[in-house]
Amino acid sequence: MHTNRIFNFNPGPAALPLSVLEEIQSSFLDFAGTGMSITEISHRSKWFDEIVNDAIDRTRRLLKLSNDYHVLFLQGGASLQFGMIPMNFLPDGRSADYINTGTWSAKAIKEVEILKKSVRVIASSEDKNFSYIPEDIQVSPGSVYVHLTSNNTIKGTQWSEFPETSGVPLIADMSSDFMSRPFDPKAFGVIYAGAQKNIGPAGVCMVILRDDLLKRVPDDLPSMLKYTTFASTNSMYNTPPQRKLSTPAIPLFS
Ligand SMILES: Cc1ncc(COP(=O)(O)O)c(C=O)c1O
Repeated sequence: MHTNRIFNFNPGPAALPLSVLEEIQSSFLDFAGTGMSITEISHRSKWFDEIVNDAIDRTRRLLKLSNDYHVLFLQGGASLQFGMIPMNFLPDGRSADYINTGTWSAKAIKEVEILKKSVRVIASSEDKNFSYIPEDIQVSPGSVYVHLTSNNTIKGTQWSEFPETSGVPLIADMSSDFMSRPFDPKAFGVIYAGAQKNIGPAGVCMVILRDDLLKRVPDDLPSMLKYTTFASTNSMYNTPPQRKLSTPAIPLFS
């Protein structure tokens, strides 16, 4: 069975190493000798706390994250982040800057427009079918954040150096190149990435968020749409997808 594995390079979710699949297989029947499947253990148990804390610790270590960053695990994929970011960080009457480098940037911009919030596209490569990364990025006066997509999954371009935003928080969708190369997390206010490309199966989105940004989160959002809800509960406000959350911990963090 193991010798005829197919490496599919064209899915939404990426291939996982065989050793990871084997670990998933065994934890599915008996998680760490508990006699319970990973899908059966309580998310309020010490075992699950360990899984989440281990994933956070290893992320911190790998990215050399300072203590002023939170590591959160949310559901809803990177696509939910397209809406949560303006809901949490873009107050009415203010404006955010977006850089449009392809399909996923455009989707992020669309969600701001749906929310009827003010978005300025300060740079775009749409004129040449998104075949390049724009240069000389100028942040608009008064912008509350700058959003970009680090790797343009469909159009095939990737930022090699990130723009300087003069203190305005830089927010990056890193879904398709997260953890694939070294980068300086300090340059970012928020980094988010759907797990399925680089760190595990679909169903979890990792959000790395600088602490000062939490003060900007408005009170009048539903709990499940506020970053403060997940930061104050170690991402366990409601029942998380245990097996999916345990799996990023295995390939990326072991
Ligand atoms: C760069 C980028 N952003 C966002 C998404 C959407 O992610 P999700 O399916 O987790 O919502 C993808 C999916 O391919 C992507 O490549």
